Amino acid sequence: MKILVTGGLGFIGSHTVVELANSNFEVVIADNLYNSKEDVLEKLEKITGKKFKLYKYDLTDKTKVEEIFNKENIDGVIHFAGYKAVGESVREPLMYYQNNLISTINLLEVMKKYNVKKFVFSSSATVYGDNGYTRYVESMGRGETTSPYGTTKAMIEKILEDLYYSDNSWNITLLRYFNPVGAHESGLIGEEPNGIPNNLMPYVMKVASGKLEQLSIFGNDYQTVDGTGVRDYIHVVDLAKGHVKALENAPAGLNTYNLGSGKGVSVLELVTTFEKVNNIKVNYKVVDRRPGDLPEYYADASKAFEELRWKTEKTIEDICRDSWNYERKMNN
Ligand code: NAD
Ligand code: UD1
Repeated sequence: MKILVTGGLGFIGSHTVVELANSNFEVVIADNLYNSKEDVLEKLEKITGKKFKLYKYDLTDKTKVEEIFNKENIDGVIHFAGYKAVGESVREPLMYYQNNLISTINLLEVMKKYNVKKFVFSSSATVYGDNGYTRYVESMGRGETTSPYGTTKAMIEKILEDLYYSDNSWNITLLRYFNPVGAHESGLIGEEPNGIPNNLMPYVMKVASGKLEQLSIFGNDYQTVDGTGVRDYIHVVDLAKGHVKALENAPAGLNTYNLGSGKGVSVLELVTTFEKVNNIKVNYKVVDRRPGDLPEYYADASKAFEELRWKTEKTIEDICRDSWNYERKMNN
């Protein structure tokens, strides 16, 4: 089966290419290198021992999308390509709506034309919004999104639902990721945010490696285990495997799954685990809460377990070890 992986040189896409290749899927990659580097391709080839065709195309150009489907016999698409920085999306909403929506609509139109109807979409737990619960279940439905980025995810989910209702021969899987972190155990691929990171794990890495002085922990007065924010951190390799399971095991029709560990971990727990596993100090101070942050949420991941036969296998210790291994290898 030949799978087009859009955004396949990015953080989650690259790890998914590895797992697809390990499961003997044929992989074609489309990525415009907006937030990735071409040398990831060689690293993917090194890890898997396989070659991948790369189309350095921007998916907002429909003629380019069509060219891919013309040349390749695509059976299904996993769609990672998109912009993902929450803060930037607040400052530049049009850029986010333009890129995330137009590239998705182009893809779907071309897929329809070529009668390719298997589609897996990278959604996010952010579509639940602040719904007053800590454990998110798929049946809760979407809430009010809090950023243009989140709104693009909710809008694309809706577009896919409408498409499915218009023609239920489509097979569409919406995967709602919780907090993807970690890196491949080879240390060759991982996350490389531009500039000063906003997310916790990349920031911890920069402090541990001495590139940034101190981590600010945003609040320790929440009603949580130790007062700091609680999230469901998922190792990117587990997440990547979830996509393979979605292709293999998702039932016919349109289905939505949380991909998370089902377990909440606090900021302090993550920092102290990182220090212990890697035997390194992370300098931090507690500061005010970050506006817009929720105290605590994590996935109910039982639907993915029951229907996709997928669950996370890696621990928070694995996450801390693999992230640090990648950071050190990248800088040596
Ligand atoms: P990433 O930025 O590392 O990867 C996205 C890739 O898409 C990049 O390589 C980029 O160059 C490419 N791209 C962007 N726009 C493109 C376009 N118009 N045409 C072709 N290529 C384009 O991001 P990621 O962390 O791997 O995330 C992948 C997907 O998962 C995104 O859709 C993101 O919104 C979603 N997601 C990510 C997270 C997270 O925390 N990383 C959480 C929930 C959902
Ligand atoms: C954010 C995004 C979410 C996205 C996710 C990707 C928002 C509102 N949400 O979620 O859409 O899918 O990233 O992983 O931006 N923290 C600190 N210090 C820091 C950074 C973070 O204490 O320097 C804390 C936060 O307060 C939070 C936890 O660490 O409790 C995780 O934060 P972060 O990694 O930014 O992810 P989210 O806010 O959960």
